[in-house]
Amino acid sequence: MQHFVTVDNLDEKQVLALIKRAQYFKQGGRPTCDLSEVYCVNMFFEDSTRTHTSFEMAERKLGLNVLQFDPKQSSVNKGETLYDTLLTMDALGVKLAVIRHSQNEYYAPLIELGAKQTLDIGIINGGDGSGQHPSQCLLDMLTIYEQFGKFTGLKVALVGDLTNSRVAKSNMELLHKLGATVYFSGPSYWYDEAFEEYGTYRPLDELVAKVDVLMLLRVQHERHGATEEQTFSKESYHQKYGLTTKRYAKLKDDAIVMHPGPINRDVEFASSLVEAKKSRFKAQMQNGVFMRMAMLEKVIEGRELGGKTR
Ligand code: CP
Repeated sequence: MQHFVTVDNLDEKQVLALIKRAQYFKQGGRPTCDLSEVYCVNMFFEDSTRTHTSFEMAERKLGLNVLQFDPKQSSVNKGETLYDTLLTMDALGVKLAVIRHSQNEYYAPLIELGAKQTLDIGIINGGDGSGQHPSQCLLDMLTIYEQFGKFTGLKVALVGDLTNSRVAKSNMELLHKLGATVYFSGPSYWYDEAFEEYGTYRPLDELVAKVDVLMLLRVQHERHGATEEQTFSKESYHQKYGLTTKRYAKLKDDAIVMHPGPINRDVEFASSLVEAKKSRFKAQMQNGVFMRMAMLEKVIEGRELGGKTR
């Protein structure tokens, strides 16, 4: 794999191989090659706590040489394009770039133009606008697999700000491909008929008692318009579409609750339940490091970047 920018082309075998490799790292396994001479850079043009820090932890655990890049103090502010910024990194000797950007599919023209010209750097997508979030999706798959050991036949509900959520886009696509039954819920104005390809939209109270995985999505205030924000009520959302203590009590015994973070406490998720027995919020963040190690390794292998075998 030359770049890891989407889950579109992954098949079941590849997903399971990534899960197994992430589990190997979670159990203390080490990379096969010496990566100390491989330089990577984290370029986050949108805010992040989990993804940014988790990728950095993954890179350090793999033994990569990690460079930081702060867009706010860069020549992007002088009008330099993303392509030229990457070309600069490439020229300096950087081999891998983890990028988060507000533009959907920001990576497509970089890869296309790069292939025609001299750009030679592996891109790992840390989230593109409302497009895809492959590393979040795959850490979610690891978390689900740890609980159930399978995907086929599982019932998974994605609840909330579906339109704006790149996590929802990646997860609905991959869960459907892996044989899970996907349901959608939340405000109807955040549901798009295009999602019908992957699942069925149902009222939340119909789903709570029957799903294996209840995946709550963050209300993405930063992507809403002024009118949408003015009419939004936290209390009303929580009562209609959030995980309340009453709904939690109705979940199946072995059901799990997931949230990609950051959480709007007492909006999507009752604050008292964030670390409850069925919540996997913390496990998701822990798993992120190991899945990101597996993803980075895939691109390292594809580009034959590793040094001598250990
Ligand atoms: N889940 C996630 O992408 O969180 P961050 O925005 O903090 O990276």
